[in-house]
Amino acid sequence: TATTEIYTLSLHDALPISANEENTDGTSDANSSYESYKSGESDHKIEEIDGVTYVDGIMIVNKTYSLPETYAPQLDETALAAFEKMRQSAAADGLNLFISSGYRSYEYQENLYNKYAAERGSSAADEVSARPGHSEHQSGLCMDINSTEFSFADTEEAKWLDEHCAEYGFIIRFPQGKEEITGYEYEPWHIRYVGEEVAKEITQKGMCLEEYLGVTSKYQD
Ligand code: DAL
Ligand code: ZN
Repeated sequence: TATTEIYTLSLHDALPISANEENTDGTSDANSSYESYKSGESDHKIEEIDGVTYVDGIMIVNKTYSLPETYAPQLDETALAAFEKMRQSAAADGLNLFISSGYRSYEYQENLYNKYAAERGSSAADEVSARPGHSEHQSGLCMDINSTEFSFADTEEAKWLDEHCAEYGFIIRFPQGKEEITGYEYEPWHIRYVGEEVAKEITQKGMCLEEYLGVTSKYQD
């Protein structure tokens, strides 16, 4: 009916293209955020602008949501300034924080992922490394701090980062215990800039970004 058409159009306006397709039997392969949007359980606003997805105005890059190959912003200046402020404050506490990996291009990530996949096989690689176009490092909004060895978790620097990064607008993006939701192993070194207010709220609620935004992180294949 006409009513259904109008409803469908207005709903689809706010959704990423990949979530719009319905099967011929009327069911949908869409992700859970679309499902919850449809059922009215979620009031998150999902927008896709030039191939980049934002939920409630926050950029989301994960296994479900990718970036275009041509998206190459370099490291975000606000995120870098926030890191510098955080670095100085850690230094005042006698700790040394440095960026070991910041912005990574699509091509760089492609090589990195392929290296892991060649060494471990693709399903093991998928637990620790993003496929090209799916790495948050391509967004320019995240950084790996100091070491990317799991032993980093036991350092004073990692403990300080976990305790204080939200004060500077960062979240630990792949927290322990959230592996099934983020789609990745715990990464105590990988921080994502979301701004102070959001970072504090996410941290205080004990959520990962997917939970906070009501989205999935799953490859389609
Ligand atoms: N290690 C994270 C998941 C990345 O490759 O972006
Ligand atoms: Zn990282």
